[in-house]
Amino acid sequence: MAISRIILGVTGGIAAYKTPALVRRLKDRGVEVQVVLTRSAREFVTETTLQAVSGLPVRDNLWDKETEAAMGHIELARWADLVLIAPATAEIMSRLASGSAPDLLTTLCLATEARIAIAPAMNHVMWVKDAVQENRRRLEERGVHILGPDDGDQACGETGPGRMVSPDDIVASLLGPAAAHPVLSGKSILITAGPTYEAIDPVRYITNRSSGKMGYALAAACQEAGADVLLVSGPVSISPPVGVKVLPVQSAADMHAAVHAHLDGADIFVGAAAVSDYRVADISRDKIKKSGDDLSIALAQNADILASVAALSDGPFTVGFAAETTHLREHALAKLEKKKADMIVANLVGKDLGFDTDDNAVDVYWKGGEQSFSKRDKAMLARDLTTLIVERHLEHSHTAMTAELPATMVRD
Ligand code: CTP
Repeated sequence: MAISRIILGVTGGIAAYKTPALVRRLKDRGVEVQVVLTRSAREFVTETTLQAVSGLPVRDNLWDKETEAAMGHIELARWADLVLIAPATAEIMSRLASGSAPDLLTTLCLATEARIAIAPAMNHVMWVKDAVQENRRRLEERGVHILGPDDGDQACGETGPGRMVSPDDIVASLLGPAAAHPVLSGKSILITAGPTYEAIDPVRYITNRSSGKMGYALAAACQEAGADVLLVSGPVSISPPVGVKVLPVQSAADMHAAVHAHLDGADIFVGAAAVSDYRVADISRDKIKKSGDDLSIALAQNADILASVAALSDGPFTVGFAAETTHLREHALAKLEKKKADMIVANLVGKDLGFDTDDNAVDVYWKGGEQSFSKRDKAMLARDLTTLIVERHLEHSHTAMTAELPATMVRD
């Protein structure tokens, strides 16, 4: 889901003077911005300026009858795709971490289901204090996106970490770098990621070592490139990229159903999930009790999601993954052929490779071509793969289109 409505919470730090520029940059990218000021923020920036640049009355009071009548705070919390707090003081971080809600901004943060991002700004000695770092960790663990702070000269005349990230960098991390024509703008992409859980009984399940990092990194890269991204994700412990919609699922059957329910209009499908090939044939209603030395569980084969999408006559461009322990090329080419995918991204898995790591090296195969990507950070790899996917997708659409045209109209 692209971000189109942001609540910008401004708290009381000197960096608040940069917020009119931040609002401008967001508006330039087509985002509606509702500014919410805290009482101390008013010491640093005026309501008049923020109202002028945002084009909306600034909100600052939970108890203002007039503004609440126009859009109540619960409605406002639902309206937003993202709550961004910039600058975020040590005080607001502490309130968010403890869940206290004495004013409009903190109440909105509790009442919203949207992602929260904060750009901390404070004196460098405050930033490294245990209490502040503990709050930062707690917020990060709860999925709050922390932007910066930057290192450098501070308003107090000292130098160190604590400067608010610049408005340009905040906008780039939330919305992706500004491009005149983002390559995937207007494209819709469905990505599966993570492992699946196949229940054995109410307390046990079969799963695998997938962390979901590669699929999530691809979702972020595609979103950065302007696509509308839906992640159908098995259980993972990482936060989704800002602006990406996530549909959580458990089993391979759930994932299959969720993919086919949301495939309509998708231009590209990426199967990055490590889908369990088998499910338990007969899930026990009650916990299986220990009895005897051996236990056998019958398994039944799951439907192949990637192959089912690739088989659709008017389906999307399909990209699959192949995680192998041996004979990478041979297995990858066999999967390309068997599943009728348009591209297979193959990597070796095993000790320190592939699953649950931050780096990855892959070889990509398609009909008539291949390309290797040496070991690099998964975020960087995801960007490089996205570039290749875009190239192959364009080539594929061009071939499909020219195949439908009379031969005289086809130039090359
Ligand atoms: N995949 C899928 N649905 C399944 C199994 C796999 O969509 N039921 C997709 C994965 O998301 C991945 C690709 O198929 O993109 C390859 O997955 P993998 O498990 O390596 O393939 P398998 O066909 O299961 O082959 P193997 O015998 O190596 O397990």
